[in-house]
Amino acid sequence: MKIAVIGAGTIGLSWTKLFADHGHDVRVSDPRADLADVLREFDPARVRAAADLADAVRDADVVQENGPENLEFKKDLFATLVEQAPRHALLLSSSSAIPAGAFAPADGERVLIGHPFNPPHVLPLVEVVPSERTSEDSVRRAVEFYRSLGRTPVVEHKEVPGFVGNRLQAALQREAVSLVQQGVVSPAELDAVVVNSLGPRWATVGPFLGAHLGGGPGGYRHLTSHIGSSMSNLSVGKPDTSPEATERVVEAVEQAYGDKSYEELAEARDRTQLAILSVTGEEK
Ligand SMILES: NC(=O)c1ccc[n+]([C@@H]2O[C@H](COP(=O)([O-])OP(=O)(O)OC[C@H]3O[C@@H](n4cnc5c(N)ncnc54)[C@H](O)[C@@H]3O)[C@@H](O)[C@H]2O)c1
Repeated sequence: MKIAVIGAGTIGLSWTKLFADHGHDVRVSDPRADLADVLREFDPARVRAAADLADAVRDADVVQENGPENLEFKKDLFATLVEQAPRHALLLSSSSAIPAGAFAPADGERVLIGHPFNPPHVLPLVEVVPSERTSEDSVRRAVEFYRSLGRTPVVEHKEVPGFVGNRLQAALQREAVSLVQQGVVSPAELDAVVVNSLGPRWATVGPFLGAHLGGGPGGYRHLTSHIGSSMSNLSVGKPDTSPEATERVVEAVEQAYGDKSYEELAEARDRTQLAILSVTGEEK
């Protein structure tokens, strides 16, 4: 297939790797001045920098958009894509939180969300979220496309900002920041709590199956009646999001991890996450 990648930042480059590794021709469009340099790590027979947006999408079968998380940008871009991409091309957005219904044009039956978790060349989930204007055929083709790449698409039934994965992530992150701000733990200590408990648990069972097992032979029913109320009555923290308070958390995170380069940390993350997925059977 011919795939246009629009936006070659963290997510666009990771999608590019996945698409190229599956033998597709990838054209990448991004105004960044160092685009040719960052694409040098890929096989030039498969991946090339497009001269502009029109060049990237001219004969694309699929467009995967990964530009700025900005409503006006996505509105303008998708209006152009509907006009310039071939009529059969699927128009997918990686948006983390903005539903397609907020930016798809009136004739946007091919526009929908294909939201990955970072990095999409490692983590299998893709949230497929149609708007009310998206056709059933586009949803079916998006699911087939992501499955053909060894991903695990999950089609969601309603559009909500942040979809499912990021709403869960945001809830946990709010509490994590609040616990650090209250001085309960440092960022590295909080990470150690998660990596040694919720992380491996959730790599194998989700929150509901985990809770069903947490109730012992009595299952989720027993858990909700037994410790359910003491858990649901816990008041969760409200982090201080002022610039000064945020700066203090950023500095604490940089102090914990700033002695290692991005490349070093990302390589260790990819290697260990792929090892986990190879055991849980999710690696494809
Ligand atoms: N980082 C994540 O963890 C993550 C995960 C899933 C989804 N997303 C979503 O993916 C999208 C990209 O996020 P990111 O983290 O890769 O951001 P990023 O800042 O790393 O990259 C964005 C890229 O878009 C480029 N860009 C700016 N204007 C453009 C234009 N007119 N045409 C083409 N490219 C343009 C920038 O030069 C930059 O390279 C966002 O919508 C984000 O919500 C991010």
